[in-house]
Amino acid sequence: VRRGDLAGRRVVVTSGGTREPLDPVRFLGNRSSGKQGRALAAAAAARGAQVTLVTSVPTELAGVDVVTIETALQLRDAVVAATADADAVVMAAAVADFRPADYAPTKIKKSHDTADDGSADESAPTITLVRNPDILAELVTSRGSATSPVIVGFAAETGDDTGSVLDHGRAKLERKGCDVLVVNEVGVDKTFGADDNTVTILRRGSDETVEVGPASKAAVADAVWDAVTDLL
Ligand code: C5P
Repeated sequence: VRRGDLAGRRVVVTSGGTREPLDPVRFLGNRSSGKQGRALAAAAAARGAQVTLVTSVPTELAGVDVVTIETALQLRDAVVAATADADAVVMAAAVADFRPADYAPTKIKKSHDTADDGSADESAPTITLVRNPDILAELVTSRGSATSPVIVGFAAETGDDTGSVLDHGRAKLERKGCDVLVVNEVGVDKTFGADDNTVTILRRGSDETVEVGPASKAAVADAVWDAVTDLL
């Protein structure tokens, strides 16, 4: 750990899974615990950075400005605001790709609209989804040809017939256009909610890969910041 190597730098980290509300009591969500993002924010602060953590998991962290959000659209607004003068953005959040098209302002009931004959309608409602923006891709687009901020994405991948975890990671790095991609292999008992993590760090334009772990999420965080500081 290179203590103080992020002094004078402003960094933004996102973490946790977004929650996309259906009605006042229900949401679509995912299993992201926010632990890796929290570790990234803590590590950056320990290395001297001014840190904004945009997260769906309410938390307090010494020396870190925490912005709590719920939905992907709120996360986007918070990230865009915090990124204006940032040197690096690390998108560790599990952003929902889709959200319900409609929000019901009152709780969706099990039996709804009464049919013509006076009986309750017991049919299940259909939930229509619409796409959320890809915030990482938007950050890359709005940066244009500038080299700042350094943009880091995360990818949870499983190997399959079409390629290995690493093949999918490389393809995603090119597609997303970010500078660094942290690839997690996911599957049974892996990553979500765990205290340890195993990742491969890829850099655009480089064949070099950095493998970390199984290691604490704090150690993974330091390896990510090492990759970022090389680009600052
Ligand atoms: O394409 P995929 O969802 O696997 O990409 C993951 C990366 O993209 C993560 O860094 C995540 O934070 C980011 N992402 C995003 N907006 C979305 C979906 C993912 O910024 N709507």
